[in-house]
Amino acid sequence: MKVLTLILAAAARYALSQSFEPADFNITEVLLKNGVDTSVLTEPSALTERNVYTGCFKACNILSFLFHPDVIVDGITEGSTEYADFNKAYWSQQQELVRPHCIFYPENAQNITTLISISRFSGCPFAVKSGGHAAFANASNIEGGVTVAFAKMKGLKLSADKKSVDVQPGNVWHDVYSALEKDSLAVVGGRVSPIGVGGLTTGGGISFFANEFGWACDNVESYEVVTASAKIITATPTSYSDLYWALRGGGNNFGIVTSLKLRTFPLGKMWGGDRIFLEPQFPATIDAFINLGNNAAKDPKAAQILSFVVQGGSKFASAQLEYAEPNANASIFSEWNAITPAVDNITIRTLPELTDKLAETSPNGLRQSYWAQTVKLDRDLLTFILNAFFEESAKLADVIDLLNPLSFQVITVPQMQKMQQNGGNALGLDPEQGPLLLINPAPQWTDAADDERVNRFVDTLFKRTAVEAEKRGLASRYIYMNYASRYQDVIASYGHSNKVKLKRIARKYDPDRVFQKLQPGYFKLDGAPASL
Ligand SMILES: Cc1cc2nc3c(=O)[nH]c(=O)nc-3n(C[C@H](O)[C@H](O)[C@H](O)COP(=O)(O)OP(=O)(O)OC[C@H]3O[C@@H](n4cnc5c(N)ncnc54)[C@H](O)[C@@H]3O)c2cc1C
Ligand SMILES: *[C@@H]1O[C@H](CO)[C@@H](O)[C@H](O)[C@H]1NC(C)=O
Ligand SMILES: *[C@@H]1O[C@H](CO)[C@@H](O)[C@H](O)[C@H]1NC(C)=O
Ligand SMILES: *[C@@H]1O[C@H](CO)[C@@H](O)[C@H](O)[C@H]1NC(C)=O
Ligand SMILES: *[C@@H]1O[C@H](CO)[C@@H](O)[C@H](O)[C@H]1NC(C)=O
Ligand SMILES: *[C@@H]1O[C@H](CO)[C@@H](O)[C@H](O)[C@H]1NC(C)=O
Repeated sequence: MKVLTLILAAAARYALSQSFEPADFNITEVLLKNGVDTSVLTEPSALTERNVYTGCFKACNILSFLFHPDVIVDGITEGSTEYADFNKAYWSQQQELVRPHCIFYPENAQNITTLISISRFSGCPFAVKSGGHAAFANASNIEGGVTVAFAKMKGLKLSADKKSVDVQPGNVWHDVYSALEKDSLAVVGGRVSPIGVGGLTTGGGISFFANEFGWACDNVESYEVVTASAKIITATPTSYSDLYWALRGGGNNFGIVTSLKLRTFPLGKMWGGDRIFLEPQFPATIDAFINLGNNAAKDPKAAQILSFVVQGGSKFASAQLEYAEPNANASIFSEWNAITPAVDNITIRTLPELTDKLAETSPNGLRQSYWAQTVKLDRDLLTFILNAFFEESAKLADVIDLLNPLSFQVITVPQMQKMQQNGGNALGLDPEQGPLLLINPAPQWTDAADDERVNRFVDTLFKRTAVEAEKRGLASRYIYMNYASRYQDVIASYGHSNKVKLKRIARKYDPDRVFQKLQPGYFKLDGAPASL
């Protein structure tokens, strides 16, 4: 009996030490500490039908009461231009059409502790928006809830030794690169100017510089995070190291990231842009792409994306090529440079100029769908996938305003090796299994009536690809979060043991499952956001 009691006591002590939030955690008290006396709050008298969640009346009222009027935009008065402008700033129309009950602009991490507490107190769910480029509805906007936007958190501070920069999630990559350019520095981040620091980094983050340094999440020295218990903590390789690991690819499941310390490196001008190729050149572009993907270690300053596009009755290929030096004739690109393009828009540019150039083809306001799949890098399999893509996309000829690109990238062995630095990331990628071919269909259209057909088209293409890859022994389970569609189970694709580990870490920092239930959008720990 005595032994059992001792064991139970030890188990309880152990459980407590594993749990970050005390068992007697009291949200009312946290709110009181933040200056919110919940006992004086009165219930709103009228509920409108727009109010998906009743608690959101309460939550938005408390927020309006506590914060200066320009810190909160009340969604009930939907007519305001500020509200409309806010929604127009999302990239996809699917996210633009989501109607939050109110929009909250925190000024700092402490304000976010208040938001989390109010959400827990009222039961009102929230979403978090950085650059707003996640494509599917409710990914970073929330119907009837509170959308948290970082527009007032654009802090950016280079360290005294210039080896790192603290960046708040209100910044997009263009802001970061422009600020660092005067010191001839850069960081590992997004390739298109308006992409957010918050979403890209927490999901992985493929960069022009990935072969040399790894992905964006692998070059974060520390994350400042507001946890479910409304605490502000800093996760590093040595402090809250489990949380640090989980944030490297685990998405929005662990907390709200309020600042990231990014490692800098020297960068002058670079060579880059895009070239258009016509059908007779397709086989040569595929050869050049495969060879550069396999030879990435020979010169890690090179980067490439090869896309095939169907638009109207025509087909073309677009190659984005970059070199991290102002060198127009790097020998690693000799095979690429020997192919004659129809249009050549590659030149020597600064990094911010390059990201602006690449943003020209991605306007806001259209219906969008991003998808991700991986297989082992293989020329014949790529050709199979491309032919299947052309076959299936021919069936969409009557989809209005369809622009149908299929992009290929290589998750190279050097990238996967760099992912192992500082304790590794959550993605479950093994350099021994590389290189991988990352397949990213990204159809764009205008009529919601076509959604179902467009989504089924990609689903069919992926099923055909998976069967063929399996048959050839070239399958890979990994799904890249930042490109995945809402029909894909990203966390499961990190592998069973990583999923179990991520769930254990979530249980420790978020025992009440705040980031699963009160922040329901995007890729949660269990299952895909939706089914087709
Ligand atoms: C035109 C275009 C170009 C792209 N280029 C690249 C590229 O070069 N490399 C690449 O890897 N990917 C790229 N992507 C994919 C991109 O990484 C994802 O769309 C990513 O989600 C965008 O981040 P965001 O902050 O803009 O998005 P948001 O929609 O604001 O956020 C996406 C998700 O991240 C969460 N999130 C955002 N901020 C935080 C935070 N501070 N704390 C916790 N969670 C947060 C949100 O809740 C949301 O669920 C591109 C996408 C597009 C449309
Ligand atoms: C939480 O704290 C408040 C304020 O101190 C108190 O009134 C309430 O009873 C506490 N709730 C619980 C469940 O302990
Ligand atoms: C929000 O942050 C401001 C600036 O630091 C602070 O003065 C204010 O008390 C905070 N408000 C809440 C409710 O967290
Ligand atoms: C977005 O969330 C709302 C509220 O949960 C839900 O009604 C709606 O169907 C969601 N939209 C999509 C496209 O999933
Ligand atoms: C580019 O490099 C190749 C060898 O890699 C060389 O043959 C060619 O002359 C160079 N061209 C220019 C313009 O420097
Ligand atoms: C792209 O290059 C073509 C020539 O190949 C040129 O006519 C065009 O102006 C360039 N476009 C941009 C946007 O730089």
